[in-house]
This record gives sequence, structure tokens and C-alpha cells, in this order.
Amino acid sequence: MVTKIERLGVVGAGQMGGGIAEVSARAGLDVVVADVDAAAAEAGQQRVTKSLDGAVRKGKLAEAERDAALQNLRFTSELDELADRQLVIEAIAEDEGIKTGLFGRLDELVTDRDAILASNTSSIPIAKLARATDRPEQVLGVHFFNPVPVQNLVELVPSLLTSDETVQRATAFAAEQLGKNTIQAQDRSGFVVNALLVPYLLSAVRMLEGGFATAEDIDTGMVQGCAHPMGPLRLADLVGLDTLKAIADSMHAEYGEAHFSAPPLLQRMVDAGLKGKKSGKGFYTYG
Ligand code: 3HC
Repeated sequence: MVTKIERLGVVGAGQMGGGIAEVSARAGLDVVVADVDAAAAEAGQQRVTKSLDGAVRKGKLAEAERDAALQNLRFTSELDELADRQLVIEAIAEDEGIKTGLFGRLDELVTDRDAILASNTSSIPIAKLARATDRPEQVLGVHFFNPVPVQNLVELVPSLLTSDETVQRATAFAAEQLGKNTIQAQDRSGFVVNALLVPYLLSAVRMLEGGFATAEDIDTGMVQGCAHPMGPLRLADLVGLDTLKAIADSMHAEYGEAHFSAPPLLQRMVDAGLKGKKSGKGFYTYG
């Protein structure tokens, strides 16, 4: 029988880490979210509280359920507070050096030697994160989608070193405990979804850059022509332009194919601090 996860740790209190923490706390898990930046931890806590309040306002969540979820959640700037966790999901910036350093640190501080160390990465090789630890068979990718409370999918990504038992435990966590649908992909940059999505988003940026159509018309084309919930440029803003560029860079390094390379306009927007919705401005302006 697969052991249920009762104590979850999340590293990174950004939109993905906060979303993973929110759905897990609502599912009754005890959740500690650690972000080394105390201000980011505080901002993450406020975002999750606001999201839970919003769900109550819309009648999707009872007040008592919101209060229970908040009781299950703790935000901290001390990584050491993850020591007693059974599963830790890393959701920090897409930077291979920082992530491998973090996995080494988590391996040292998480005392339960059966605990799983997972990454929400979209594009960094899981095998490299696994090799930074002394428990490579308990490291895998557990990749959520934004906004986490809305998107039903989780991609599970074992590396060549991950054990079957770890995959089973992670599948049970995502499917049975969180109620998400899972798909499994090999440890190749982008997995299934981003390998298809990222070239599409980059193509939309190239279209805009080439003066082919306006941002609004590109997005309206895909929303009204193909029934997508949002157009590619608005979606790029939601993903975060810095995140999109980092994913594209990893995928380009992995495959060497031109359609994964970040166009100059995307690079320059990131240089200018235009990161999309989270920074208030990207292809669109947010209030
Ligand atoms: N948290 C909780 N619920 C949310 C939410 C959030 N952050 N954002 C939206 N919702 C809910 C709303 O409450 C609403 O629920 P209701 O229908 O019960 O009232 C529902 O979602 C629809 O929201 P809105 O009416 O406000 O707005 P839209 O209809 O425009 O939907 C959207 C917004 C859910 C973001 C939708 O446009 C969408 O699904 N877009 C596509 C997003 C997508 O493709 N995500 C994947 C990105 S790729 C990724 O994350 C991988 C990474 O590695 C890059």
C-alpha cells in the first residue's frame, strides 16, 4: 500500500508554489511553504489568503473550509522548517545552478530518508537534480499548471534513476489526494505540454515582432478561431515572460532547434523588466 502524504513542503512562494500550497492545504495536507526571501513568503501568504477568500465569495468554498485550509498552511523564510516533510516540491526560478544547490541542501535537511524530493520545473533535467542528492531514486518532476487551482493536469516525470515506488507515491499524491489528472513523460526538456506550448507562444511573439498582426488580433484569432481560453500573448504574460524565456533557453540548449529559441523581442522585454502579469506589464498592461 502506498503511504499517504500528510506533511508537504513547498519551496518558493511565487504563483506556482503558492498555488500548489493552496490546493494541497484545501485537500487537508499540512503544508509548509519556505521562501528564502521573507518578503516573497509574506506576499505569497497574502496571495493564497486572497485566493481562498475569493473562492468563499464565489460560493465555491465554505468559510469553515477556508479556515481549515488556512490552519493547514504555514509560510516561512527558514528552509530548515521543511525537515520533517514527507514530500517537498521545489517551485523556484528556472535556474539549473540554483535548483541543484537547493536539492543538495534539501537532501541534507529533510530527515525522513523515505521522503520524496520533487521539482515543479518545466525544463531542467530531473536527472541533474537527482544527482545533487544521495537519494536519486526518490527525485522526480511533479509539474503543475497555472493557475494551479483551475488546471486539472499534473505531469509526472521520472528520471532514469527514479524508482517505481516513487512514481506510485507521487501519482497517488496528485491523483488521489489532490484530485488532479496525471500524465507521465520522459525526462526531456519541456515534457509533453511545454514541448508543444512553448514553440507556439514563441511563434506568436515572432508574429508580433515581425509586424504581422497586433497583439489583440493574434490573441483574438486563437480565442475565437480555435476556442482557446486565452490567446498566446496573454498566456505568455500569465506564464511570466522571464519564465517563458528561461524555459525556451533550456529547451533550445537541449534540442538545438530554432523554434525553441527566444526571439529578440522576448529577450528585450525581460531585459526591460517587463515580465507579464506579475510585473504589471508585458504584452498587455495589468491594473
Ligand atoms: N485561482 C483560482 N481560481 C481561478 C484563478 C486562480 N488564480 N483564476 C481564475 N480562476 C477561476 C475563476 O474563479 C473562474 O471560476 P468560475 O468559472 O467558477 O467563476 C474561472 O477560473 C474562470 O476565470 P475568469 O472568469 O476570471 O477568467 P477566464 O474565464 O478568462 O479564465 C483562466 C482564466 C482560468 C486563466 C483561463 O483563461 C485559462 O484556463 N487560460 C489558459 C491557462 C493555461 O493555459 N495555463 C497553462 C499555462 S502553461 C503552465 O502553467 C506550465 C508552465 O510550466 C509554463
